[in-house]
Amino acid sequence: MRVDIVTIFPEAFTPLEISMIGRARERGLLQITIWDLRDFTTDRHRQVDDAPYGGGAGMVMKPEPFFAAVDAIRAAAGAEPSHVILTSPQGARLTHALAEEMAGTRHLVLLCGHYEGIDERVREGLATDEISIGDYVLTGGELPAMVIVDAVARFVPGVVGDAASVEADSFAQGLLDHSHYTRPPEFRGMKVPEVLLSGNHEAIRRWRRAQRLRRTLERRPDLLKHEALSEEDRRLLDAADLDID
Ligand SMILES: C[S@@+](CC[C@H](N)C(=O)[O-])C[C@H]1O[C@@H](n2cnc3c(N)ncnc32)[C@H](O)[C@@H]1O
Repeated sequence: MRVDIVTIFPEAFTPLEISMIGRARERGLLQITIWDLRDFTTDRHRQVDDAPYGGGAGMVMKPEPFFAAVDAIRAAAGAEPSHVILTSPQGARLTHALAEEMAGTRHLVLLCGHYEGIDERVREGLATDEISIGDYVLTGGELPAMVIVDAVARFVPGVVGDAASVEADSFAQGLLDHSHYTRPPEFRGMKVPEVLLSGNHEAIRRWRRAQRLRRTLERRPDLLKHEALSEEDRRLLDAADLDID
């Protein structure tokens, strides 16, 4: 998968050089290029923003450098990107499903805003999608771009070593994850549940499934699709005295 990010702070993207994303880049599973928006300005001061028409507080990012940057990305890729994503608190909320869908595509371009945001003509004439990472406002689009890349990259085959862990994580299959423990078996009076030490794989599977159901019901009942619950799920919920209705 190819990812191109357009920003005025290329130096902000070092987190994409480490850990799983860094390794995926080294292994050629992800090709990430950071483009400096100022390289696409035409004036001596490399100005990327200007005062808002109509007056008011703050500055607005100019449209021309974004259009020129995406033209350069098109030329470098030799094809139209699958998605040109405008990061914005007003966009569609990033979800597990959206990240998984984007991971199935070939080429993402992400545009990072600052100040009051980007001239509306970038949304109208350049972006194919507008994505928000949550209902709050950040100072710039760099963190949202990295959040989007990380969430999408986890679904690219090979990026996460064990694909089974992605399938069992929270939100996959509409459930939250079960709790996790490692050594020691007892720490400051807190014990690891007996069943996990039992070596009984079937009992462990049932315990984990019950935990996932319980946590989802208690913390995020909105995720639980009643029609998707199996007979075993209903028995596990009954046994835990949890009422799904
Ligand atoms: C200060 S914000 C602009 C906010 C804009 N005036 C508004 O109220 O909708 C500057 C930039 O940060 C990024 N940004 C801020 N919050 C975001 C969020 N929740 N999701 C995605 N991007 C965000 C966008 O790139 C945005 O252009």
